[in-house]
Amino acid sequence: MNADRSAPSSRAAGAAGHRVRVDLRGRTALVTGGTGGMGRVVVTELARAGAHVLTVSRDASRGRHLREQIAREVGADRVQVLTGDLSVRADLHALAERVKAEHPELHLLVNNAGAHYRTRGLSADGVERHVAVNHLAGFTLTYLLQDQLRAAAAAGTGPAHGVAAGGVGARVVDVVSDTVNDTRTLKLGGSPRPVRLDPAQLVDLRRINPAEGFVAFEAYARAKLLTTMCALEFAHRLAADGVAVNCVHPGIVSTGIVDDLVPTWLRPLRPLLHRVLLTPEQGAASTLRLATDPEVTGTGLYCRRSTPAPAPAAVHDPRLRAAAWALSRDWAETP
Ligand SMILES: NC(=O)c1ccc[n+]([C@@H]2O[C@H](COP(=O)([O-])OP(=O)(O)OC[C@H]3O[C@@H](n4cnc5c(N)ncnc54)[C@H](OP(=O)(O)O)[C@@H]3O)[C@@H](O)[C@H]2O)c1
Repeated sequence: MNADRSAPSSRAAGAAGHRVRVDLRGRTALVTGGTGGMGRVVVTELARAGAHVLTVSRDASRGRHLREQIAREVGADRVQVLTGDLSVRADLHALAERVKAEHPELHLLVNNAGAHYRTRGLSADGVERHVAVNHLAGFTLTYLLQDQLRAAAAAGTGPAHGVAAGGVGARVVDVVSDTVNDTRTLKLGGSPRPVRLDPAQLVDLRRINPAEGFVAFEAYARAKLLTTMCALEFAHRLAADGVAVNCVHPGIVSTGIVDDLVPTWLRPLRPLLHRVLLTPEQGAASTLRLATDPEVTGTGLYCRRSTPAPAPAAVHDPRLRAAAWALSRDWAETP
């Protein structure tokens, strides 16, 4: 795809934000978590570059407000907000059905929504909440919308179609977290502590992040690990069809989720902490780059911001990865 001078304005997303360099008119993108810090920037910049952007809100009136705000900002009404709770499987099925019915081609899927919960809780489907929101939501949307992604790639209208190496025509970006490589909340000396995944738990999703020994930050990281594992599996399975699947850790960014992660004793320093973190525009930049930059031609990448980085060993263990993928697929297929 070539940049087009007559394309809708695609100026930078504020200081150090990523400037979408391609004309996305005629393209459809689905971005989860559009009401949040980074998701809102991603939705806005994709819409500014001309894409028709679908996002999801749990609350219809918040969704309407978001749509109106972004329409004012970009000068065009290109955002469609669907209503649903991403932790609920029936809602994921309904969202996917709606997208399929209205958009036979999906060029971009950005699984950005995420959450950190201080205490353990179960989703309506009986799965630990971190697993439901941070892993199964994105997995299910990717799995159920595979044909629409393939169709976009086959039609040759994806964001990087025509780029010499790979010719990738449709893209999935999973926003994960480098907690997969280090679950220490404070990294003051010592060695990184990669998240552990007990293979014995990979037989039933309800066994993952059990009550015994529950540590919220590790539970969050384990869900992100499952996503990273499955992303690589999706990347292998979809490569031949021209669909790229990559993961990104956006950096430590001043958004709502960080407040949930700050240990209680550090709360008084919250305002100071937010000042030294990346802005949502800076955080969203790496997601936007993986989603749209014609120079990104790889698939199956794990990126720390814009740089490919090593993922934990479990991601590269074909048996563990296949088990995680099959378990998630069975969950996603269950009506
Ligand atoms: N901020 C960081 O430092 C950091 C670092 C590494 C990775 N990440 C990842 O970056 C992504 C974006 O997060 P953020 O930092 O922008 O945080 P955020 O501002 O808290 O945004 C999270 C988004 O996810 C949505 N969401 C959460 N649970 C949902 C559910 N059950 N159904 C529908 N939507 C739901 C939220 O919707 P509501 O508005 O309705 O709550 C919100 O739009 C997440 O995947 C996060 O894990 C963030």
